[in-house]
Amino acid sequence: MAKTKTAYFCQNCGTQYAKWVGQCGSCKEWNTVVEEVVQKEDKKSWKTSSSTLQKTSRPLLVKDIANDKEIRLNALDQEFNRVLGGGLVPGSLTLLGGEPGIGKSTLLLQIALKLQYKTLYVSGEESQKQIKMRADRIHPNSDNCFILTETKTQNIFQQIVALEPDLVIIDSIQTLHSDFIESAAGSISQIRECTAELIKFAKESNTPVILVGHITKDGTIAGPKILEHMVDTVLQFEGDRNYVYRILRSLKNRFGSTAELGIYEMQGSGLREVNNPSEVLISKNDQDLSGTAIAATVEGMRPLLIEIQALVSTAVYGTPQRSATGFNAKRLNMLLAVLEKRAGFKLAAKDVFINITGGISIEDPATDLAVIAAILSSNSDIAVEKGLCFAAEVGLAGEIRPVQRIDQRILEAEKLGFQTIYVSKNNKIGLKKTKIQVKLASKIEQLVIELF
Ligand code: TYD
Ligand code: MG
Repeated sequence: MAKTKTAYFCQNCGTQYAKWVGQCGSCKEWNTVVEEVVQKEDKKSWKTSSSTLQKTSRPLLVKDIANDKEIRLNALDQEFNRVLGGGLVPGSLTLLGGEPGIGKSTLLLQIALKLQYKTLYVSGEESQKQIKMRADRIHPNSDNCFILTETKTQNIFQQIVALEPDLVIIDSIQTLHSDFIESAAGSISQIRECTAELIKFAKESNTPVILVGHITKDGTIAGPKILEHMVDTVLQFEGDRNYVYRILRSLKNRFGSTAELGIYEMQGSGLREVNNPSEVLISKNDQDLSGTAIAATVEGMRPLLIEIQALVSTAVYGTPQRSATGFNAKRLNMLLAVLEKRAGFKLAAKDVFINITGGISIEDPATDLAVIAAILSSNSDIAVEKGLCFAAEVGLAGEIRPVQRIDQRILEAEKLGFQTIYVSKNNKIGLKKTKIQVKLASKIEQLVIELF
């Protein structure tokens, strides 16, 4: 038997060392370097028989390279297709990350069940019976979806060669292990090796592969960063587990834009595609409620109207509480300071709570104006007029600043039946004629006088 070889790997970034070090020289993290068993055998191909046939490539002029119109596999899921940039590219590797319980397995099983192509769903986490129970809830009869519970890559490839599926789904990469490496499943060297084998398989057979990846506590995909470098597309499934909405984002995409966004709603029978998110995110309330305002935001490429709720109440304790759900707390503090200093509101002795409905979180600075409107509305207990929405950033001097994609926001607000939208005076608006009234504002003081 060959002598067991070991090497040291940083568990954070995957850098390999010959001996143990306290601090990783690459990512500068402390105590992340761990010894792992690596046994280097002569690497066999994923399909051991065909390894001798090696094609060498030669350089070609760009204009001479055949440009076959790429055919993409339609996933029959509008949101998923949108995020991928129009469907799955043959031979591509897609990594889907997300917190435990967010719905990664549900999403992929659902896609596998709906597809018209032969799909192999490999699970290292659940038994065939468990998956069957879930499949019955989502989409009971499917003729094309095969389930395999296996964790050894060599066995998986054996089944793949026999079945010849059009799509392979691996749930999850952390449960796989390869015979070529001796360390435990989920270790850096195993993840790296199994992914490399899958990439080789995908590229040689032109079959798309989707991998599920676990994420660590701080939200990054577990395993080395190189895992993200190795695959073609990295998708992230996120949302608050206590709410029903889930957002699918692409963090990296070799075949499309990373600005697209997919929205789903978790139901008893799987995930429902949400094609018109603005309508579901705004509560349909007939009464005038103080403390709410609508922001016209853009998430990725998609315009999205969301409802901001604020509650301002007298602080019971010496230090007032400021809390924000779905909105950056630092930004909230900044906006409150602007309101104190520039518009003369005495909010220093008030508790302020901000919540974005639907459990989604928003980074778009264009929500600033709506947040301010919601706070002032709650503070004065006067409701913001119906049919009003906002799209502007607020600067430290209390000035109302322009935001990007203003036309898209205005059109979305108009589509949803809003009558008035407040935007910055400095925003260049390309639209000629709009049904919705576009009001220009330059300072928050002016807005306060107009609204309350
Ligand atoms: P799951 O796909 O197992 O999450 P992950 O693979 O990301 O860990 O999703 C599990 C959650 O989804 C679980 O808490 C129950 C819920 N769920 C539904 O609400 N409806 C359904 O139809 C299914 C299948 C799951
Ligand atoms: Mg799962």
